[in-house]
Amino acid sequence: MLGFSRFMPRRILPVSSGKGGVGKTTIAVNFALALSRYAPTILVDLDTGTSSVRNTLGVPVERDLYHFFRKGYRLDDCVTRLPDAWDPHGEFSGFGFVAGPLHLIEEITNFGAERKRQLSEAINALPSTYVVLDMKAGLDSNVIDFLPYSNSGVLVFTPHLPSATLAASDIVKAILFRKLRIVFSPASPFYRRVHDGNVSSRLVNDLLDRVEDVYDPGYQNLDAFLADLASSIGPSPVIDHLAATVEYFRVFYVLNAFDGVTEAYETAVRPFVENLVTNVSERLTLTNLGWIVRSEEIHRGNCERRPLLLQPRDGSAAPPKPDRVARALDELVREVTGLVGEKKRSPVHPISRRPDPDAALAEQLEALRKMYDTRPGHAADPRLNFDYVTSRAVHLLTAARASEFGTPRICGPDEILRTIFPAGSVPGSD
Ligand SMILES: Nc1ncnc2c1ncn2[C@@H]1O[C@H](COP(=O)(O)OP(=O)(O)OP(=O)(O)O)[C@@H](O)[C@H]1O
Ligand SMILES: [Mg+2]
Repeated sequence: MLGFSRFMPRRILPVSSGKGGVGKTTIAVNFALALSRYAPTILVDLDTGTSSVRNTLGVPVERDLYHFFRKGYRLDDCVTRLPDAWDPHGEFSGFGFVAGPLHLIEEITNFGAERKRQLSEAINALPSTYVVLDMKAGLDSNVIDFLPYSNSGVLVFTPHLPSATLAASDIVKAILFRKLRIVFSPASPFYRRVHDGNVSSRLVNDLLDRVEDVYDPGYQNLDAFLADLASSIGPSPVIDHLAATVEYFRVFYVLNAFDGVTEAYETAVRPFVENLVTNVSERLTLTNLGWIVRSEEIHRGNCERRPLLLQPRDGSAAPPKPDRVARALDELVREVTGLVGEKKRSPVHPISRRPDPDAALAEQLEALRKMYDTRPGHAADPRLNFDYVTSRAVHLLTAARASEFGTPRICGPDEILRTIFPAGSVPGSD
């Protein structure tokens, strides 16, 4: 496992929703388990007020975030592994988790700046290829500061709660505004440049306030703000950079408690996109990572504190034979991806192989084919939903640039500035 993991890009993947109770923990736990089949994965419970991961995963915990913050343990000494009885075939031997404290401890629940920095650094140093963060509900800085600055990480919302759809799109807005404010802060190389021009950064920040304020009809979204800024200061690398920040921003989402394509489109996807276009920008790139059906088995797994992927499998879920839909999907994926032939992979112990984009795509197809098997008596297995979401994620993690999906490190404002302006340089300046 260690031998090949150094070839894979390390990535931190927060699962957030803005809204409570939409399935973040359910998705974070099962997603982390599924990812660990590909590469070592650690799930960190950042919903530190409610111990949400340990309420869903009843494995005995020896050390948790309390020991990290109060007892001076390293974070990797606070990782809990699955006992053999929970994982008899070693399918999830690459999985570990850091539990939140057992009880509410104010300073751990609401981190100050120093605690946040300490925890971010420790998460960045975890010895794992993938780190999944189960975030708390809300849009405060204790959520936003742990998210990537160039993409959304994994957003969860559900057709059953329209307000969750809007909260998810507000996360995108909050991440983008945080980055823009860092770019226009006095510590930024942009600051002096903008100051030297005919527009002060105070004015820019006032404009940002107005765009962010949904009650201000003057500037509805970032596109209007950029157009106005461009007409105030003329062509400028500042504007180009801001436009690129928005244009390259990637949004990834998973629909939970999915109830059909038409319903989900009307009640969740369309309002999500409309809200983003109206209040943030029409330039963002949106990617649906898949969906999770509403399932008694998922809920029971949570209640029993043994999540779906650790529940004993029902032997009746045998793989279906390819049918017409599956053949059509096969054609489609081959056409789109240039994949020739089908790569069959064993679902057991796949951790011994290195994920590659083609294999992850072939697995998506396989999962999609099984999910679409609607023959009578063939109830869809919700595990397939996680297979699909995970193989899509692994494809992106292996094929896309590091800044497109998740983040290699959780970065504070200084690090964000250093990444945007290496050696303090401003693009386009002499
Ligand atoms: N796909 C699903 N099918 C059935 N039940 C589900 C599904 N997803 C989540 N649930 C149930 O919905 C409830 C909320 O789920 P979960 O705790 O994962 O949400 P959350 O977003 O993490 O909540 P919080 O904001 O409180 O942390 C739980 O009882 C869970 O078992
Ligand atoms: Mg939760």
